[in-house]
Amino acid sequence: MEKIKVLFVCLGNICRSPTAEGVFTKLIADKNLTAYFIIDSAGTHAYHVGKPPDHRAQLAARKRGVELQDLRARKVHSSDFEYFDYLLVMDDENFAVVMQDCPPEHKGKIKYFLEYAPHLGVKEVPDPYYGEKLGFERVLDMVEDASLGFLDALVKSGRLKLPDSVKS
Ligand code: 4NP
Repeated sequence: MEKIKVLFVCLGNICRSPTAEGVFTKLIADKNLTAYFIIDSAGTHAYHVGKPPDHRAQLAARKRGVELQDLRARKVHSSDFEYFDYLLVMDDENFAVVMQDCPPEHKGKIKYFLEYAPHLGVKEVPDPYYGEKLGFERVLDMVEDASLGFLDALVKSGRLKLPDSVKS
C-alpha cells in the first residue's frame, strides 16, 4: 500500500504547521487510518529549528486533546518536494517561498490548506505568533475544519480507499 505523504508548511514551524500536523495526526488516529499516512511539518525559515512548538500552541492544542510536545521544528528541505504528495501551506508567503524553491514537476503538490475548508471564506491561516492567545484558538478552529475537508477530499477523489470497517 502506497502511503499518502503530507507535509504541512508555515513560516517558523512552531505554531501553525505543527498544530496542523497534530490535529490531522489525531484525526486519522481516531479513525484508525494512521497506517495510510506519513505526516510531517516544516517551516520556510530556520529561526526555530530544533525547538518544540510555541508553548501557547501546545497549551491550546492540549485543551483539544492534541499533544504537540514531542514535535521539533525543521526547515523545508529540497528533498521534500519529491518525497511528499501534498505540501499544504498556511499563507501567501509560505506559498510563494515553496513555489519558488519547488521543481516544476512537483509544483502541483503545493496547495493552501484552507482550500479544504472553503466554507471559511478565507485562504490563509493567520500567523498567531505576535498576537493574542485567541489567535491560537482560531488556528485550531481553522485547521480542524481543513483537516476534515482534506480527509474527505482524499476519500472522494479515490486517493484514500477506506476499509469497510471505518466507512460510516
Ligand atoms: P508559524 O509562526 O509560522 O505559524 O510557526 C511563526 C513563528 C515564528 C515567527 C513567525 C511566525 N518568527 O518570526 O519567529
